[in-house]
Amino acid sequence: MRKIYVFDTTLRDGEQSPGVNLNTQEKVEIALQLERLGVDRIEAGFPAASPGDLKSVSEVAEAVKNSSIIGLSRSREQDIEAAREALKKAEDPCLHLFLATSPIHRQYKLRMEKQQVLETAEAAIRYAKKYFSKIEFSPEDAARTELDFLCEVTEMAVRAGATVVNIPDTVGFMTPDEFGNIFKTLRENVPGIEKIQLSAHCHDDLGMATANALAAIRNGAEQIEGTLNGIGERAGNTSIEEVAMALETRKDYYQAATSLKLNEIYRTSRLVSKLTGMVVPGNKAIVGANAFAHESGIHQDGMLKEKTTYEIMSPETIGLKESKLVLGKLSGKHAFSEKLVDLGYDDLNEDQIKEAFKKFKNLADKKKNVSDEDIRAMLEEKLVNTPE
Ligand code: KIV
Ligand code: ZN
Repeated sequence: MRKIYVFDTTLRDGEQSPGVNLNTQEKVEIALQLERLGVDRIEAGFPAASPGDLKSVSEVAEAVKNSSIIGLSRSREQDIEAAREALKKAEDPCLHLFLATSPIHRQYKLRMEKQQVLETAEAAIRYAKKYFSKIEFSPEDAARTELDFLCEVTEMAVRAGATVVNIPDTVGFMTPDEFGNIFKTLRENVPGIEKIQLSAHCHDDLGMATANALAAIRNGAEQIEGTLNGIGERAGNTSIEEVAMALETRKDYYQAATSLKLNEIYRTSRLVSKLTGMVVPGNKAIVGANAFAHESGIHQDGMLKEKTTYEIMSPETIGLKESKLVLGKLSGKHAFSEKLVDLGYDDLNEDQIKEAFKKFKNLADKKKNVSDEDIRAMLEEKLVNTPE
């Protein structure tokens, strides 16, 4: 199995979600849980952005021992100095430098020609090299950059001493085929590419961040960047839990795996949701409340006979206790009878069960979900009103 490094940016790109603002203590709490999850690299923030962020990165760097800690920096000396200060106490520090390379960003944002972009990035990497042995360089908006220029930029970064070149699909514009092709082209055309790791950083504007990250892996990416619950700027980033579970569930296809402790996924997802205040949608893959819940009678019957009929992964893998059979109007008698036994009503005869099931169906027509309490109340009423 090929190892895929996980670079978690929940504390940096994730914090760029509108409305999210994590204080230092919250950042440290999340970082320690990310370390427990087994994330290889944690981007703790953007030290030059504010004194508060510098402090947070510094405290995360001090607290975390088993994951590399990364600080983001524009390609300028003051930012590099701020990151250097913030990462002083890290066991395994890494600097993440970026500079936009696409024609749109060159023309409107940077007002730079290609040559200036190359020179500015190279100068920043060489300056940072004095302080950092690990440097990741990101050509921002790489996905909308001319492919031959992206090869040139990558070659420059390799020569200047970057250890990782990260390819961001900054605005989530790519399709999986196109994004995979960028990695294939870089692997085949950039001299010295074998000296560095290639990384994929995707955004979810068209709902393709996970698919694009997986396409990058298929085409030679050794690192994926993302966030827990897929939070991040605009529509968010690649969901780390989705990529990790896709690799786990389809190892036959990807022949690659992360080193994550998968049974920490659910706990990490809950913590991130609690501290960021970003609610996880019920139907979110892997960590949504409905991801391991079954409501229709046909599915519940299948699940009670053999779980693999309707589950491609087990809830225990991500640290959940069990799947849920939700009782609603589509549920069948098989699941209902199991629920009665669960609730302690294990001595009802067939007629009593039939009668209770009829009542339950009537109730379920009026109520979206029927709770354990509803069933108990229904049963007690029925037993009280049933003559001996
Ligand atoms: O999306 C992006 O381009 C980024 C860079 C800073 C890597 O987040
Ligand atoms: Zn991003």
